[in-house]
Amino acid sequence: HFADQDAIWLFGYGSLIWKAGFDYLERRPASIRGWTRRFWQGSHDHRGTPDSPGRVATLLPEAGATCHGMAYRITPDVLGPLDVREKNGYLREVVTLRFNDGDTAQGLVYIATEHNAAFLGEAPLEAMARQIATAQGPSGPNRDYLLNLDDALNQLGVEDTHIRELAHQLRQVDDTTPETS
Ligand code: BEZ
Repeated sequence: HFADQDAIWLFGYGSLIWKAGFDYLERRPASIRGWTRRFWQGSHDHRGTPDSPGRVATLLPEAGATCHGMAYRITPDVLGPLDVREKNGYLREVVTLRFNDGDTAQGLVYIATEHNAAFLGEAPLEAMARQIATAQGPSGPNRDYLLNLDDALNQLGVEDTHIRELAHQLRQVDDTTPETS
């Protein structure tokens, strides 16, 4: 049987912010220090295909940075399905979560590092926006992932320059791309 002390905090910084897709005990805005969100992970099984991979968020270590996201308190059985869902190169890390009231807690976060095969790394903003504008996979269009994330961060009152600039660039790419259908 589940005992409350077995509950785990999971920190979401990408799709988990707006779409959990699992049961949770509690959901709270939180942040982690020393990490910055970047659209540097390739997605060929969720928001793209092997021929046309999408780009999704991962975290890069950066001294002095803070990444704002959403923490979910979950029962341990939720991690099994999540490990499968996030199989595309993501590994679990233990991090310290900070809640808005200043409280802290140990938690887990899924991070895709440069050492996984799907990692794409940095590219010019416009090139990333064009890739995101065209890619789609079983989870839907890549553009929805970025725009949903941008909306969710705005609703949380979070200022994330990389995401704001990338979403802005994506909307401009959308405006200049001729309809293909
Ligand atoms: C996240 O939102 O934190 C996340 C989602 C999918 C894979 C890794 C992280």
